[in-house]
Amino acid sequence: MQQGQQGWIAIRDRPLRGELTVPGDKSVSHRAIMLASLADGVSRIEGFLEGEDARATEAIFRQLGVRIETPEPGARIVHGVGLDGLRPSVQPLDCGNAGTAMRLLSGLLAGQRFDSVLVGDASLSKRPMRRVTGPLARMGACIETGPDGRPPLRIHASNGLQSIEFESEVASAQVKSALLLAGLYANGETVVREPQPTRDYSERMLAAFGWPVAFSPGIARLSGGHRLRATDVAVPADFSSAAFFLVAATVVAGSELRLRRVGMNPRRTGLLHVLRAMGADIVEENAGEQGGEPVADLRVRSAPLRGIAVPREHVADMIDEFPALFVAAACAEGTTTVRGAAELRVKESDRIATVATGLRALGIRVDETPDGATIHGGRLRGGVVGSHGDHRVAMAFAVAAQCATDAVTINDVANVATSFPGFDALARGAGFGLEVAES
Ligand code: S3P
Repeated sequence: MQQGQQGWIAIRDRPLRGELTVPGDKSVSHRAIMLASLADGVSRIEGFLEGEDARATEAIFRQLGVRIETPEPGARIVHGVGLDGLRPSVQPLDCGNAGTAMRLLSGLLAGQRFDSVLVGDASLSKRPMRRVTGPLARMGACIETGPDGRPPLRIHASNGLQSIEFESEVASAQVKSALLLAGLYANGETVVREPQPTRDYSERMLAAFGWPVAFSPGIARLSGGHRLRATDVAVPADFSSAAFFLVAATVVAGSELRLRRVGMNPRRTGLLHVLRAMGADIVEENAGEQGGEPVADLRVRSAPLRGIAVPREHVADMIDEFPALFVAAACAEGTTTVRGAAELRVKESDRIATVATGLRALGIRVDETPDGATIHGGRLRGGVVGSHGDHRVAMAFAVAAQCATDAVTINDVANVATSFPGFDALARGAGFGLEVAES
């Protein structure tokens, strides 16, 4: 382990058993803070993700003059300041590791009458921002980026925004949401069309806060000139966090896990379809609704997997689940191919490269392509892997270790706290062999 880094030593222990609830949805938590802050009145958020990413957004809105109380962990009371009530911050606004915070805030802050500077950590500082600053400039926003369109973002005071109709080349909920948030401050109707439908939390939540918005898969439109009305938000458990347990309980023989009240927004559950097509035994129970979002308990029993060609239409609906899917593919019989997923190269790490490199270190053959990979299922052995500071890669390797023949050392896992604080304890409780190792 490198000096000063936190790592894990993970090893197969026993079948995974029991019932667990994973933390609140990251995407919903960011948006709840943002819209509640801009609303008129007081909103209560339940199930808020106490992870570093969502807390970075919360800290930014405090810096912008919003009073946010924490009556208990996982709850927030947000005293909305209204659409034009934010105050400038002299200090830069630190998004940490959170791409969602930076991209959505670029749209929201582009509409303010004051300057702002958005910064991020080393990983976020390498991520592309022109996908948002380009269309925002067409709306009249003035945003300077760092070299090559990377952060930091210097957002200049708005002289008024103009709506646009935007046809996005990338399927990205962050791009769509940035433009819709800028559209709250624009003259006329902002329309965003996507090449593949992406998660629609911004649209649903804007509607819940009383803003007229029309949306269907692949298109969203709204006009400026309305107000947001405070409302309470119940954040469902994050499907992307549940995904690690879905894969783990599938590949560790003799397992049976129940994951409670998982968010089942259809734009998030692509992995479920793909795992089932590979042979997984996952049953939805107690389907219901929480805060306007579909939720269900997921019961998963271990089952043998076979490789498949992942249908391209599922890629956007499982964009955060590829590290977990690669591990499932490594444990499957035969080959799994992923194509049309070039976006994975610009996530918290280059997820095609980081996961492929780690799986190779554990004895699995992986052939990379620019937009995906072919994973040849096989026998995982022990070894040393790096997560490159990517939370989901770290958790995926913890899952891989549960079906490896020997211990796996996973370096650089501190960022797991960005999306899944307490993952190691919850995983151990379910039966993972997983120890924290501090250098
Ligand atoms: C997110 C959208 C996705 C996803 C990210 C969260 C969101 O990013 O990968 O973890 O909350 O809107 P892209 O919009 O870049 O696909």
